[in-house]
Amino acid sequence: MSEKVATVRTHANIALAKYWGKADIARNLPAVPSLSLTLAGMRTTTEVRFTSELAADELWLSGKPQPGKPLERASKLLSEVRALAGVRTFARVRSHNDFPTASGLASSASGFAALALAAVKALDLRLPLERVTALARAASASAARSLYGGYVELLASAEHATRVAPPEHWPLTMLVAVTSEAAKDTGSTDGMQHTARTSPYYASWVTDAPRLFAEVKAAVLAKDFERLAPAVEQSALAMHASMLAASPALIYFRPATLAVIETVRDLRRAGTAACFTIDAGPHVKVLVEPKDAALVRERLARAPGVLRVLESAPGPDASVLPQGAPEVLS
Ligand code: PMV
Repeated sequence: MSEKVATVRTHANIALAKYWGKADIARNLPAVPSLSLTLAGMRTTTEVRFTSELAADELWLSGKPQPGKPLERASKLLSEVRALAGVRTFARVRSHNDFPTASGLASSASGFAALALAAVKALDLRLPLERVTALARAASASAARSLYGGYVELLASAEHATRVAPPEHWPLTMLVAVTSEAAKDTGSTDGMQHTARTSPYYASWVTDAPRLFAEVKAAVLAKDFERLAPAVEQSALAMHASMLAASPALIYFRPATLAVIETVRDLRRAGTAACFTIDAGPHVKVLVEPKDAALVRERLARAPGVLRVLESAPGPDASVLPQGAPEVLS
C-alpha cells in the first residue's frame, strides 16, 4: 500500500440525559443510558492518511503534534481498524475543531467519531455506520453518539449508538455559554473512575439515571419542552452530585457556571422556556426554542464570567468530504 486517505466531518454532541460511569472498563461500556443532541455549529474535520512512509502513527491537532495519551488513544483505535482491514500501515491523523478542545465541550466525542469513520473509509472497509459507532465508543463512549445527527441514544452496556430522531424532528437551539478557554484538569475517564471508587452517591446515580433517560427520551419524542426541561437539568445535576460527593471532590463548576444557571432560572421565572446542562467542564449549555434564542443568548452573554456564547441547531450525520476539499486542518 502506498497511501490511503479519507477526510471526515463530524459534530459535537451534548447529552440531554448524561452518561457517567462504566459498566465494563476494559471494553468501555457505559453504566447508564444516555441521549444526546448532535450540534451543527460545533464541527471536527479529520483527515486520516495511511502511508508506508511512517514508522509510527502521528496525531496533529490544529497543526500541533499531540504526543502521549491523546496519541495512544488514537493509535489504539487505528489499530482496531487496521486489524479489521488486515493492514499494518501507520497513519498520520490531522484534525481540527472549530470550538475549544478538551474543556468539556465534547471535543473527544466528535474527535473519536471522526477518527473512526475516517480510518474506516480510508481503508475502504464496508461497515454499517452502526459498527463504526462501536469503534468510536471503545475510544470514548460519547463519541458513538456523534456519528448520527439529531437525537441519539447509547444504552447501558450497549456496543453501539442508535438514532432516536433526525435533526428536523425537533429543531431546538443549543446555546453554549463558554466560561473558559482552558483545558480541563480531570478528563472524563479518570473522573468517572474516581467517582465510582469514592463517591457514596455513585450507586444512586447509576440506579436513577435510567428513569431520567426514559423521561428525556419520552419528552424528545413528544416534543414536550415542559417535560424535557426538568429531566435534563436533573440528569446533569445528579451526575454532578455524584462527582461532588467523591473524595476528593470533583468540582467542574466555576463561579461563571453558577451565574449562568441563575440566569436560566431567572429567565424561566419570567416565562421563557429554557433549561441547562453541564458536562465535565465549566461551560453551560442552554436549550431553548428557536423563537427565544436571541433573547436568551443576549442574557447569557451578560452573565458574569461568560466569555462568549455559541449557538447551534441540531446537526447532521457524520459525512465523508471529497478529497482535495480546501479544509482548515493546519
Ligand atoms: O465519552 P467521554 O468519556 O468523553 O464521557 C463523556 C461524559 C459527559 O460528557 C460528561 C456526559 C455525556 O454523556 O456526554
